[in-house]
Amino acid sequence: MILFFEKFIFKRFFLVSALIGVLTFQISTPVAFAIEISEAARTVPLNASGDPITLSEQRISNGQRKFNGTCSSCHLDGVTKPNPDVNLSLESLALAVPPRNNLEGFVDYLNHPTTYDGQASLEELHPSKSRADLFPKMKNLTEDDLVDMAGYVLAQPNIVGRLWASGKPGR
Ligand code: HEC
Repeated sequence: MILFFEKFIFKRFFLVSALIGVLTFQISTPVAFAIEISEAARTVPLNASGDPITLSEQRISNGQRKFNGTCSSCHLDGVTKPNPDVNLSLESLALAVPPRNNLEGFVDYLNHPTTYDGQASLEELHPSKSRADLFPKMKNLTEDDLVDMAGYVLAQPNIVGRLWASGKPGR
């Protein structure tokens, strides 16, 4: 009888610990995948001189969240639906005037967007902080959020490679 009871407890203990193991695995695995971005991939140019800056995983994922909520209706996966010639690839951003392939230049665009040649303001046409009255989604974004979105976009070629802004699915 005592032996049976011990066996029963042991079985219960085994089942419960197996269950905890499975649950812990399920809870922790997606998080572990989500934050596995190497330091090199999170290092992007800060300014036009190319000084590097490394953003934390938290800031990149905040940038991703804010980008998805604010920009992806037009810029899903780095393309520009309304004007595919001016996309969010590093090549396109680099040739804009001024260059937008660095944190400062990118954030400047989100405060004062301009045409690709830099000649005219797009503030009334493109979402920006300065015209949050016209683009209400911009109202809730802080200056840090703008930096994080820029970091997310500039790091994408390091993370997903040439699929970013290619217009090809399969990411
Ligand atoms: C309503 C559609 C729309 C939304 C929403 C939008 N954009 Fe754009 N974006 C465009 C268009 C169109 C262009 C090209 C403008 C031009 O013709 O120069 C552009 C251009 C840009 C450029 C310049 C690209 C280059 O190669 O020089 C950047 C940077 C940019 N967008 C970032 C963003 C970010 C970040 C957000 C979210 C906060 C955003 N955009 C939201 C339509 C949009």
